[in-house]
Amino acid sequence: MSMDKKILLIVSGGIAAFKALELIRLLRGKSYAVTCVLTEAGAQFVTLLSLQALSESKAYTDLFSLTDESEMGHIQLSRSADLIVVAPATANILARMATGLADDLATTLLLATDKPVLVAPAMNVRMWLHPATQANISTLSARGVTFIGPDEGAMACHEFGPGRLSEPPAILAAIEAALDAPKPLSGKHAVVTSGPTHEPIDPVRYIANRSSGKQGHAIAAALASLGARVTLVSGPVNQPDPSGVSIRRVETAEEMLAACQSALPADIFVAAAAVADWRVEQASTGKIKKKEGVAAPSLSLVPNPDILATLAKPGPNRPSLVIGFAAETDDLLANAQAKLTRKGCDWIVANDVSPATGIMGGDENAIHLISKAGVEDWPRLRKDDVGRRLAARIAKEFT
Ligand code: CTP
Repeated sequence: MSMDKKILLIVSGGIAAFKALELIRLLRGKSYAVTCVLTEAGAQFVTLLSLQALSESKAYTDLFSLTDESEMGHIQLSRSADLIVVAPATANILARMATGLADDLATTLLLATDKPVLVAPAMNVRMWLHPATQANISTLSARGVTFIGPDEGAMACHEFGPGRLSEPPAILAAIEAALDAPKPLSGKHAVVTSGPTHEPIDPVRYIANRSSGKQGHAIAAALASLGARVTLVSGPVNQPDPSGVSIRRVETAEEMLAACQSALPADIFVAAAAVADWRVEQASTGKIKKKEGVAAPSLSLVPNPDILATLAKPGPNRPSLVIGFAAETDDLLANAQAKLTRKGCDWIVANDVSPATGIMGGDENAIHLISKAGVEDWPRLRKDDVGRRLAARIAKEFT
């Protein structure tokens, strides 16, 4: 299988940690690049030196060994991998993963990653069967974590039952299957707009709005993690570039439209940007100066092109799924429904942006997904969860 796939292997505590060494040997034999992270408990069973020697790569122990960000920050460590494998995974690390703790390097990486995670549990049979562990497994499975094992058999603690770490060849096979798993949006191209636009008044002033780009960027990231090729057309924002998407930076609505059109053809178009409805008819080429006794200048505005309506127009280049946003403060559903028809799109993601909701610029979003088939009310979610849920909903449309 692929020569240059990168595995980040987290080795947590337990007598089975020695099997991680065999797993590294098997992975290296198949030319996978392996970077290891050893938890404090894991270090009671195997040494960093063995992991480094077998992986032929620097291995890491705790967060503070990574303070030299110029070497490799922890976010980058989790982002540069194709797959994160936790083997062996103790009941303790599963509990920390399920609750989202980030109290050491391993759990920080697991919380910061947007990559698939495969877990090979190993623990005493009673710990495995405990409802707390089983609840953690359900939580993690629901979030898309995949599991291999544990196997049933005699344990180091003289008990018998499920809890033994799967054998390294079986873990290798699970790794290969996880890397090969077809993603639901593989082969699809998505164009996503995000952020505000800036419409110049003169070289130093512009008209803008409060959009942060959080929602659009989260949608782009989520579509990419489901396998889509994503072109993110972004207005000026303070968001980090999502990994795995190609980004086109623009300022004005007209530039945004041109960038979207040049990114076509696409299967999916998501218009999450808060495009300025108007621009200054004739932006001044020089800075407008104030003059004693002269009235304040008035701005003559002209409408901007409607990017969503333009891309939704029937024609050979129309993406098969066109999704718009409706940010409303009054009569949310009626206004959103009208917008669906007026703009000719397939779905509208409607959100209430009344100041009291704190949605504009905030971290959460409460949305209603409107299509010709009806209205789906979603619970209030973090914007990145809205992104994931929307991406999953889009993927369902293509299966
Ligand atoms: N949109 C766009 N181009 C524009 C204006 C809006 O692509 N020039 C897109 C937005 O990205 C969003 C949707 O259209 O997906 C709705 O935008 P919104 O500003 O809420 O609606 P308007 O058409 O401006 O209607 P109104 O002013 O009545 O709310």
